[in-house]
Amino acid sequence: VAALARAYRRGLVRRTRALLDYSDAQGLPRLRAAIASMLAATRGLAASADDVLVTRGSQMALSLAARALVQPGDAVAVETLGYRPAWDAFRVAGAEIVPLALDAEGAQVEALLEISRRHRLRAVYLTPHHQYPTMVTLAPGRRMRLLELARARRFAVVEDDYDHEFHYEGRPVLPLASVDRSGAVIYVGTLSKVLAPGLRLGYVVAPEPVLARMTALRGLTDSQGDLPLESAVAELIEDGELQRHVRRARRIYDQRRHALLAALDRRFGPRLRVRPPAGGVAVWAEAVPPVDVEAWARRALAEGVSFQPGRRFALDGRPRPFLRLGYACLDEAEIEEAVRRLARSRP
Ligand SMILES: Cc1ncc(COP(=O)(O)O)c(C=O)c1O
Repeated sequence: VAALARAYRRGLVRRTRALLDYSDAQGLPRLRAAIASMLAATRGLAASADDVLVTRGSQMALSLAARALVQPGDAVAVETLGYRPAWDAFRVAGAEIVPLALDAEGAQVEALLEISRRHRLRAVYLTPHHQYPTMVTLAPGRRMRLLELARARRFAVVEDDYDHEFHYEGRPVLPLASVDRSGAVIYVGTLSKVLAPGLRLGYVVAPEPVLARMTALRGLTDSQGDLPLESAVAELIEDGELQRHVRRARRIYDQRRHALLAALDRRFGPRLRVRPPAGGVAVWAEAVPPVDVEAWARRALAEGVSFQPGRRFALDGRPRPFLRLGYACLDEAEIEEAVRRLARSRP
């Protein structure tokens, strides 16, 4: 907070005119350049400042991508468990949402071949790094096949890499966008997880025609972003502050992940089946035998503990005996206490 406040003040004082004037819808060039070099250094993504659009969080990016891609009658494939705000953005743009099955290797991308024969498939929306909400990483063979299919069947891949920075087991898997040679991938990232969701800073890297269309659409509702903030965050990226913060946060979140897994094991044993996630800021746990997870969530809330029951993520709206437990914002003592109350409130 101190570093951000200093950078914000410095920008306002030193570049008053430039930061308080009208600008353009693509975002401050300095921030676009800083994001491009960060993506090159950490994700093997060869983008320049011109290839980046700064948005107010990934939600704006997803909404713009939906509007840029979808014509009425188009279909967009999404995983059977996923991120509802993205689905809604595609729906509002006129897309028919088509389910894509999931398993332990991530989305069953081969099914896209059949889907693209039966529908006018315009795009598939995925979170391949840590599938939301199951946390599975899309298997390498499927990544390649997905890009092949996208090229052959001419659909776009909207890759939402919302928690790229938080990967604990080995090196992070590089985004699909870093190996896409045919311009199929629209890559969406955010600073909501690494800095703060309230800053509303996200970004898109996409092929020129799509990026230009998204930029034009953004300008219609929000002619430019928050330039003093964009300048301050650019400074944090340039001077390495952001990467230092990411490294600190990653270490702490990894400890919290271990604390949660250990506490769950102690209190529940085999009654809660957890596949330790390789990354992310949440755990996906299955109640064994199945219990009424929604009743559990209500009872836990009465104890001051909030978690998301499986149904919340289900495209078909049906209950699932799963819990998604976010741990990043709790310290180890709080995690222990939360799991104790979770155990007490189990139906
Ligand atoms: C799958 C997914 N995408 C994106 C986001 C981030 O959204 P935003 O950048 O709009 O804050 C989240 C936050 O929870 C998420 O879970």
